[in-house]
Amino acid sequence: MTSIAQDLSKIVGAAFEAQNLPADLGLVRASDRPDLAQFQCNGAMVAAKQAKKNPREVAQSVVDALSNNDIFSKIEIAGPGFINLNVTDAYLKEYLTTLENFGVEPTDEERQVVLDYGGPNIAKAMHVGHLRAAIIGDSVRRIMSFKGYKTLGDVHMGDWGTHMGMLIGDYMREDEQDIVLNADLKDAATVQSLMEDFAVRYPKASGAAKANSDLMQEARDITVKLQDKEEPYYSIWQKIREVSVEGMKKTYEHLGVEFDLWKGEADVHDYIDPMVDDLKAKNLAYISEGACVIDVAEDGDKKELPPLILKKSDGGVMYGTTDCATIVERVKLYNPVKIVYIVDQRQSLHFEQVFRAIRKAQIVSDNVELTHAGFGTMNGKDGKPFKTREGGVMRLEDLISMAIEKATARLNDANLASEIDEAERADVAYKVAIAAIKFADLQNQRQSDYIFDLDRLTSFEGKTGPYVLYQTVRIKSLLDKAKAQNIVFQDADLIVKEEDRALVLLLGQFPDALTLAIGNYAPHHLCEYIFKLAQAFSSFYGNVHILSEENEALRNSRLLLSQNVAALMEQALKLLGMTVPARM
Ligand code: ARG
Repeated sequence: MTSIAQDLSKIVGAAFEAQNLPADLGLVRASDRPDLAQFQCNGAMVAAKQAKKNPREVAQSVVDALSNNDIFSKIEIAGPGFINLNVTDAYLKEYLTTLENFGVEPTDEERQVVLDYGGPNIAKAMHVGHLRAAIIGDSVRRIMSFKGYKTLGDVHMGDWGTHMGMLIGDYMREDEQDIVLNADLKDAATVQSLMEDFAVRYPKASGAAKANSDLMQEARDITVKLQDKEEPYYSIWQKIREVSVEGMKKTYEHLGVEFDLWKGEADVHDYIDPMVDDLKAKNLAYISEGACVIDVAEDGDKKELPPLILKKSDGGVMYGTTDCATIVERVKLYNPVKIVYIVDQRQSLHFEQVFRAIRKAQIVSDNVELTHAGFGTMNGKDGKPFKTREGGVMRLEDLISMAIEKATARLNDANLASEIDEAERADVAYKVAIAAIKFADLQNQRQSDYIFDLDRLTSFEGKTGPYVLYQTVRIKSLLDKAKAQNIVFQDADLIVKEEDRALVLLLGQFPDALTLAIGNYAPHHLCEYIFKLAQAFSSFYGNVHILSEENEALRNSRLLLSQNVAALMEQALKLLGMTVPARM
């Protein structure tokens, strides 16, 4: 089973083929003008151009070939050669009755897909900059797994850069390294106090290094020693990382974002020297001004792409080096067919350099896809990158708390969840808050910037997380009422009337939304779909009798249809990383 449009594409494609025209021109999609037709196929115009024929005549030959097909209730040629199609209600009934897995067929791709959507730097509090990577990446992972891809989400934390040298340098200058070295990490309070210590110490150390070149040099030297695994730097670092990972895990869990691999830049260190040797042996890497670099510029570049630095003159490794070595490791351990980086759009130059170096060195075979799925910036209402009221960097945990507070107020205003006990209410507010944050983010085209406006995104009206969640809960509570009345509708015979048709047609579009979301690593296609379905159900609910329908057969059919919508909504929201509360 597929989407309705895919199903029709096969039929129309065969009609094209029967006229000796390419079958793929028979592509059918939901109509741009639902008032005129349910579906359309624009292939006759293209086919006519190729065959140097009149487009309406080509369309007519296809239409003639389709005419003995009984699934169409209308076949029409419009304008220059559009083929407009409607299907019969009997077809719709058959489609929905035999639907499995919401029409989604599993991919036949057997190899791994590695998704890189973390990137927080250890020893720094996670901030909103990490929010988009997490939300988009986790949703892409969920969507691809649902399609049957074997996905591996890697947090790929930043743990091998100069920021580590700064922090370790500060501990040593103050002769306070024992606070870290002797810490008992099994003790939660110790872990907590160390995290707070990093949060104060790192900005202090970083500020000092930026203001004083000697301190900056010291941080760089320590970083090189750390990368050579010298003591005590390495032991201090290990503990810092352990503490940070614990904090990170909590925040990601709070957000409902999961990873399979908790690796970082440091984990690939041992791949670096062999990789650099290999690049030198292939005459690709060379020494320039003491540093080891690889050229990545290509003929036809519009702007100059500087060489990628593999090793600095002091022997230190860079961000690009660890990213290259990470690809070496991923190829070796997982043999992936795709590696996708859900990382800030502003890092596009970095990824271009890394991918080119990797391709040049043939570290991955040509059929392995390397994609930087970049995203835009989350801005405040002033249009500038989102900050705290005081202008500082907003911590992710603080942002979540703010959203929960707002969601609680919204539930109160709307008089929702008023009859449930406090613990469940808190859980509802949390789910609403997470849905609000995620839906506000995911509904945008990935590359666009967007404005984080807590008032708007927590509203129960409009294109928001709370709205789609609430619509789903509403359908579920309708179904609960039916069950409480002992109405058995699960095996009902589906009756597709005028009023029911739009919903069935929409249910048959879900696989198309999923295909678009996967093809572009773009969950906004799914948001678009969910919002449409929620709205369609809302008007259905307002326009027809469901539970109060007097005709029993029709009532049961509508309950069954509602159940289909609820199940799909719940599944689709799960793919965006949202959980529907049992009631609200
Ligand atoms: N740690 C990096 C940063 O904060 C992000 C890492 C993204 N992932 C990657 N493989 N480069 O900018």
